[in-house]
Amino acid sequence: MSTIIIYASSNGNTKAVAEYIASKTGGKAVDVAAAASEDLNSYDTIVIGGRVWAGKLPKDLVEFVGKNKSVIDSKKSAFYVCCMYNEEKGQKQCDKLASEMGIAKHTFFNKGKKLVQNDTSSIDAFIASL
Ligand SMILES: Cc1cc2nc3c(=O)[nH]c(=O)nc-3n(C[C@H](O)[C@H](O)[C@H](O)COP(=O)(O)O)c2cc1C
Repeated sequence: MSTIIIYASSNGNTKAVAEYIASKTGGKAVDVAAAASEDLNSYDTIVIGGRVWAGKLPKDLVEFVGKNKSVIDSKKSAFYVCCMYNEEKGQKQCDKLASEMGIAKHTFFNKGKKLVQNDTSSIDAFIASL
């Protein structure tokens, strides 16, 4: 099983989570800016991760998913966001963004860098669901 995690991060939280998922799955974490040169067909699982600003995902990530939707849909796929909202508000925001991206399996993480350093249980649960 091979996994690629394509992420868009501004301050490193989404990137840290992507790199952690890569380390645990033996996969590869790739910034969306470098993802165009990847052959998505060569992976079994595609994870998309984005940071949230003003309720939105980075435009380049949305465009990447739009362009590659058919191959993403043909694989096991999952989506996560790194954000500051939590509980119900975080879930609602994440549900909305996942629905816009058209990826069913989704979750959100607060303070991704801290989670990777101190408590990976929520990320581990996401990995186990892939
Ligand atoms: C300008 C700005 C706008 C933000 N807007 C939101 C938001 O609408 N919803 C939210 O949950 N978090 C928001 N956040 C928090 C970020 O999503 C959060 O810090 C996230 O971990 C950033 O990921 P990154 O470190 O990968 O860039 C905002 C942060 C900034 C700096």
